[in-house]
Amino acid sequence: MKYTLITGASNGIGKEMAINCASRKMNLILVSLPNEKVGELASELAATHSVSAEFYECNLTELGAAQKLYDWTVEKGFAVNFLVNNAGFGGVGAFEKHDTGYINAMLDLNVKATTLLTHFFIPELKKNAPSYLLNTSSMAANFPVPYKSMYAATKIYVKNFTLALREELKEFGVCVCLLQPGATPTNQVVKSQIEGGGAMAKISVLSAQEVAAYAIDRTLRNHAKAIPGFKNRMSLAAAKLLPSSVKMKLAVNSAKNYE
Ligand SMILES: NC(=O)c1ccc[n+]([C@@H]2O[C@H](COP(=O)([O-])OP(=O)(O)OC[C@H]3O[C@@H](n4cnc5c(N)ncnc54)[C@H](OP(=O)(O)O)[C@@H]3O)[C@@H](O)[C@H]2O)c1
Repeated sequence: MKYTLITGASNGIGKEMAINCASRKMNLILVSLPNEKVGELASELAATHSVSAEFYECNLTELGAAQKLYDWTVEKGFAVNFLVNNAGFGGVGAFEKHDTGYINAMLDLNVKATTLLTHFFIPELKKNAPSYLLNTSSMAANFPVPYKSMYAATKIYVKNFTLALREELKEFGVCVCLLQPGATPTNQVVKSQIEGGGAMAKISVLSAQEVAAYAIDRTLRNHAKAIPGFKNRMSLAAAKLLPSSVKMKLAVNSAKNYE
């Protein structure tokens, strides 16, 4: 039996991806931090969609967590043919004000967990091809973003890592897709950012359900990128025409709304 493994599956975009995949009759392994939510979601999806839905709780920022998750799937005999690296977090603020716990957690989750899970599961994806890898970056990965400096940088890493892997894995039947969502009201941090962001920030907002549906569809159809929302795609195209100094000024002004 083939499985789709989704990290960050208990909330927001990851949860909607799980629901979308279940409705396509895909079996699931849902991963999140230890709490009751992901187990309940797995039971609900299994019952509603008649799929196999397993769950695994762990803190992916902990040393060895990615390896343990991979080992658990092997021990259980779950053949993973779709890996979704979705768990990640963001935030705003002057870089110097972040404490080292925050800095380490962001690097460990957004960069290290994504990289290590991809590393462990590539042989499995090759073995179970045709297969899929979907990594969640952000619209923030398109340029340096003052006051979201680390977050944007981690997502630039995910972007380049994913697009490069797409070429490496092409010949093995592994379809690799990069997801770059814009503002999506999921957790309280993002909701407050959208609220404080003015009309421009609100205009391109999509629901987590729309983002997830678009991402899964684009991945299954072997597209390189999923940039949900016409307005996001248009603003990205327009941004390419602007000089870097203007883009930087716009980014700083927008970030000041959150201070
Ligand atoms: N929302 C946006 O506007 C937006 C925009 C661009 C990109 N993104 C990216 O999209 C992805 C999903 O974002 P979201 O807003 O949907 O997230 P979210 O609603 O905050 O949910 C985060 C998920 O990740 C899990 N998680 C958090 N820390 C974890 C850890 N250390 N180990 C294991 N699991 C962990 C959470 O588990 P618990 O529920 O158990 O805490 C939850 O399932 C992220 O990579 C984010 O950077 C989001």
